[in-house]
Amino acid sequence: MWRLVTAGLLSLFVVNSRGMEMCERCNCSGGVVNCSLKRMEDHMNDTVWQGIINVDVFILDYNGFVHLKTFPLFGTSKLSIRHNLIAKIDDGAFRFITNLTELDLSYNHLTSQSLTPHVFRGNYSPEKYEPLKNLEILRLSGNLLHSLHNDLFEHLPSLKVLTIDSNPFKILDLSTSIAIASVYNLQVLDLSSTMLKSLPDNLIHSPKYLTVMNLSSNYFTEIPKQLQEAHSLEELILNDNPISKIRNCPLVKTLKVLRMDWMPALRTIESRSLSNLTGLTELHCSHNRHLQFIAEDAFTLPPEGEEESPTWPPLAKIFLSHNDLRYLDFDLISRWDKLKQIDIQMNPWVCDCNNQWMLSTLIPYINQTNASLTAGLVCNEPPELLDVSMYELSARNSKMRCLDLYGNRPENDGRILVSIFICVMILIPIVMGAIVIFSYRFHRKSYSHNFSYIHIANQSKENI
Ligand SMILES: *[C@@H]1O[C@H](CO)[C@@H](O)[C@H](O)[C@H]1NC(C)=O
Ligand SMILES: *[C@@H]1O[C@H](CO)[C@@H](O)[C@H](O)[C@H]1NC(C)=O
Ligand SMILES: *[C@@H]1O[C@H](CO)[C@@H](O)[C@H](O)[C@H]1NC(C)=O
Ligand SMILES: *[C@@H]1O[C@H](CO)[C@@H](O)[C@H](O)[C@H]1NC(C)=O
Ligand SMILES: *[C@@H]1O[C@H](CO)[C@@H](O)[C@H](O)[C@H]1NC(C)=O
Ligand SMILES: *[C@@H]1O[C@H](CO)[C@@H](O)[C@H](O)[C@H]1NC(C)=O
Ligand SMILES: *[C@@H]1O[C@H](CO)[C@@H](O)[C@H](O)[C@H]1NC(C)=O
Ligand SMILES: *[C@@H]1O[C@H](CO)[C@@H](O)[C@H](O)[C@H]1NC(C)=O
Repeated sequence: MWRLVTAGLLSLFVVNSRGMEMCERCNCSGGVVNCSLKRMEDHMNDTVWQGIINVDVFILDYNGFVHLKTFPLFGTSKLSIRHNLIAKIDDGAFRFITNLTELDLSYNHLTSQSLTPHVFRGNYSPEKYEPLKNLEILRLSGNLLHSLHNDLFEHLPSLKVLTIDSNPFKILDLSTSIAIASVYNLQVLDLSSTMLKSLPDNLIHSPKYLTVMNLSSNYFTEIPKQLQEAHSLEELILNDNPISKIRNCPLVKTLKVLRMDWMPALRTIESRSLSNLTGLTELHCSHNRHLQFIAEDAFTLPPEGEEESPTWPPLAKIFLSHNDLRYLDFDLISRWDKLKQIDIQMNPWVCDCNNQWMLSTLIPYINQTNASLTAGLVCNEPPELLDVSMYELSARNSKMRCLDLYGNRPENDGRILVSIFICVMILIPIVMGAIVIFSYRFHRKSYSHNFSYIHIANQSKENI
């Protein structure tokens, strides 16, 4: 009830009488003016807008705007015009929306030619154009951009978040990398789904504060080495790239979170391949259907100088679910007990002595951190233990057997022994019978001869 009352007060506050016309058409509630799906093709006339002040969010999604004309003076901090047909934007179109902090122009028909620096021009003051000084977030996802103008962001000095994903860039050419590199305060850059195979040099050297970079759904076949230019990169998203082997990784000491999920080709993570990520706290490596092998020293740096033991990164969370892993090495992580979340569910684990430590050490830890993450831990091998819960085995303190040198299973040896035993049991009477019959015949033939032989032998013994 109280919430309803406050929401009512708020909408009265944000839209004055002149704006009510807008609210007849759109839904104004709780600081949001929502004009989605209203079949609008053009701006409503100026008087309608002027009633809108201090609105948090103004939404014009899913309409038919093709040509964005200059907006009249109105007050909103977020303007969203997603999923329209915008192909042209007037110069300085947003210059009167002075409080604008977030502008979303995703899923339109903007091309490299139509998106010029002038679009983001601010007001014209005596000598120069003012910048759009409050704009921090600009979203241009899902347009037709294959290149950006060098100076595209020159009027946006506060820009911190830039999403230009789902555009057909293919390569980041010189003017595009100049445009991105010149966003001095850039913190988040989304370049996912842009058909990139590589990153240009000097792209992320200048944006000193870049902390999150999304490179998912591209064509990278290795972790791009240009990332070593980053100064404060903390999160890297590499999901859904065709990397088949992680062999090495650039030195990014600041990196805390690495995401490598849904990699269709990933098979192995090799020895020391991630050792350069000395600050890693969170590894997301799930849904990699072909990932069979993670080297026991994938994260470790060998001891240097006076150190006696290798160094591990300070991992706190590790996600390895839905992979094709059969074994997990105890030495992969230095202190499993220090982890706050461990998800290794939905892998074809082998329940043999090599994974015994999982029952005795790891599963109790997982149970402590989050008991629901023990549910999807089942044995896939050997066949006798297929689909048996590893948590149950752990709770019963089970000891798992070793598969022998040739991958044979010792419990089959039992069967072989029994067969041999039965054969022997059948053969013994036959052989005995044969011997008896044979020796009976032999004795009969040579009894006298034998007798004399023994006699002679006895004699010779006495002689000695
Ligand atoms: C307006 O939006 C609010 C919040 O999104 C919703 O609860 C309400 O039902 C909407 N009103 C109309 C008439 O669509
Ligand atoms: C805006 O309205 C559309 C359609 O009525 C609705 O689907 C959408 O969730 C609304 N958005 C917000 C932020 O209220
Ligand atoms: C604005 O639109 C209203 C009707 O929606 C119309 O009566 C009015 O004349 C228009 N004003 C201008 C300046 O175009
Ligand atoms: C812009 O924001 C300031 C401070 O929040 C506010 O006083 C002013 O009315 C806003 N301008 C518009 C046009 O809404
Ligand atoms: C990264 O990009 C993908 C694909 O566009 C998107 O689904 C995901 O939300 C993005 N992640 C972040 C943290 O921005
Ligand atoms: C670690 O980083 C350095 C410098 O970027 C690089 O030369 C080396 O190959 C990297 N090592 C691995 C194992 O990736
Ligand atoms: C435990 O794991 C489940 C499944 O992943 C998750 O939904 C839940 O938030 C986790 N709980 C805690 C306390 O982390
Ligand atoms: C899992 O945790 C519960 C409650 O904390 C405890 O009773 C149970 O014995 C634990 N099981 C194992 C296998 O450690």
